[in-house]
Amino acid sequence: MQAFERTIGCGQVSAAQLNKKIHLAGWVHRRRDHGGLIFIDLRDRSGLMQVVFNLDSSGDAAKLAHTLRSEFVIAVSGTVVDRTPATVNANMSTGKWELQADELTILNTSKPLPFNLDDAHQVDEEIRLKYRYIDLRRPEMLEKFTMRNNLTFAMREFLHKQEFYEIETPILTKITPEGAREFLVPSRLHLGQFYALPQSPQLYKQLLMASGMEKYFQIARCFRDEDLRADRQPEFTRVDLEMSFINEQDIQNVIEGMLKHVMKQVLDIEIKIPFDRMNYDDAYMQYGCDKPDRRFELKISDVTSWFADSELSFVRAIVDKGGKVGALHVENHEFTRSEIDGWVPKAQKFGAKGLLWIRYGKDGQLESPVSKFLPADFVSRIKTIFPTFGPGSALFLVAGKYKQAWEVLGRIRLAMGKEFNLIPENKFNFLWVTDFPLFEYNEETKRYNAAHHPFTAPQPGWEKLQPGEMRARAYDVVLNGTELGGGSIRIHNREMQQKVFDMLGLTNEQTQQKFGFLLEALEFGFPPHGGVALGLDRFAMLLSNSQSIRDVIAFPKTQRGYDPLMQAPTPVETEKLREYGLRLMPLEKE
Ligand code: AMO
Repeated sequence: MQAFERTIGCGQVSAAQLNKKIHLAGWVHRRRDHGGLIFIDLRDRSGLMQVVFNLDSSGDAAKLAHTLRSEFVIAVSGTVVDRTPATVNANMSTGKWELQADELTILNTSKPLPFNLDDAHQVDEEIRLKYRYIDLRRPEMLEKFTMRNNLTFAMREFLHKQEFYEIETPILTKITPEGAREFLVPSRLHLGQFYALPQSPQLYKQLLMASGMEKYFQIARCFRDEDLRADRQPEFTRVDLEMSFINEQDIQNVIEGMLKHVMKQVLDIEIKIPFDRMNYDDAYMQYGCDKPDRRFELKISDVTSWFADSELSFVRAIVDKGGKVGALHVENHEFTRSEIDGWVPKAQKFGAKGLLWIRYGKDGQLESPVSKFLPADFVSRIKTIFPTFGPGSALFLVAGKYKQAWEVLGRIRLAMGKEFNLIPENKFNFLWVTDFPLFEYNEETKRYNAAHHPFTAPQPGWEKLQPGEMRARAYDVVLNGTELGGGSIRIHNREMQQKVFDMLGLTNEQTQQKFGFLLEALEFGFPPHGGVALGLDRFAMLLSNSQSIRDVIAFPKTQRGYDPLMQAPTPVETEKLREYGLRLMPLEKE
């Protein structure tokens, strides 16, 4: 083994080391070979430092330095000197100095990399993931993981100070309903039976409250077999917590305190607490979703009343059937005709049958594909809802069933926010969304499903309401239009829990088989409790301004749930399957 010494990190060199001998180790980041002089940017986790080999003053080291190539791993010793003023690099924290090397040890060589670190953003993501250990060498990636490390540290620090106990819960467990499919693990000792990987530690954390732990948290890994998106992975991490003898406000206080602490520690940003609160109905009515991005306005307005006597038969038909018409008012934007028409296919892509537009044209005339069907007083009708409607104004309208139409408008709103640069950068807008429905009706199965999970407590007065009208003691924390976390006060009373299972249409047998242990535990002194879980990957994605959750996960899966590095999932030999009592069925042709 080559002997080497390391006394300081490359990025830690400062004026304190000037004219002193130091020993560095790291990777050859860049090299410029001028024959007599060889310059190396040496990289380690702490940053970059320029190293110079001079053939005249340190012959052997300089000769060896000719053989260096990108990503060789080396140790160098030498003296820190000032760079000449003309060669100072203001973009490098150590850019005022360089190391005059007199010793060099090559600790390892490297083949040319499959992609150049500086060009990685142009490389296909699958290649970057196949060579993720190389991709992670990029300073940009390192920065994200440094941030993520600070983030988890700050969260732990805060929660420990608040006397939360960090407790791990099983990964091999039983199906927990959270709305996705589970990943199953066959059991060798219990042939024909399967563990499920947890979609969340939900039931364990509730049981820890029954154990008297009072304040629990976990940086928990969860697994969900669902369609992947930019902000979803099949395995993800979240900060999961649960508390006893509390109400909604207590949980929200802890989360606000924790987020304030981490924003200060990680980004040195002061955020305002308490966060704004908005109930679910208002969020839907104004933003067409339950996770509004309130960094910009452009709210949805209900303009159904304009069309009660309309000659527009297709709109009338919708309104007569109880549908609604919603509108977005874009101001101060001179649309060209093709630009305005271009929003119609976009709206269709978002699920709308059509998108109606009306704009304030020359001489105050309304321009619209349906202008001849609009009554003479339409401008004054518009002004009752949009008093500032005038030159540079355009309205975009969607008619349909309330939720469907509003969801489309919500998506158009977000697309317009991006397109028209309405969204300020570097702004963190936190929001609590509250008063969610307890159940959602599933048109296909003609049954109610739990809107969150079936352990969420209903709001008082639920006994007198139909399931569709019951509200949950649930809350989500939203950051810049992304659901960062969600939680609720839980049911701690056996009768109420049984009633919810009944309303979900579970038979007694199903209830016993799935949740018998919970019903039993509820009879042995279960305290009032509640909790919340914040998606850590999503949070790290938003804090580091990343485009995808994959950028802040060290070894993520592709959009198709594949790990190109390990090449997982993989087929398993028949012999191996037999140990688990399994045999593969022939794959059905699609
Ligand atoms: P929920 O299902 O809302 O709540 O999940 C909590 C948070 O976890 C994150 N999250 C995900 N992140 C990445 N990839 C995924 N596939 C994914 N799915 C969820 C989100 C989400 O807000 N048991 C409840 C919590 C509770 O009531 O305490 C639960 O699981 O940021």
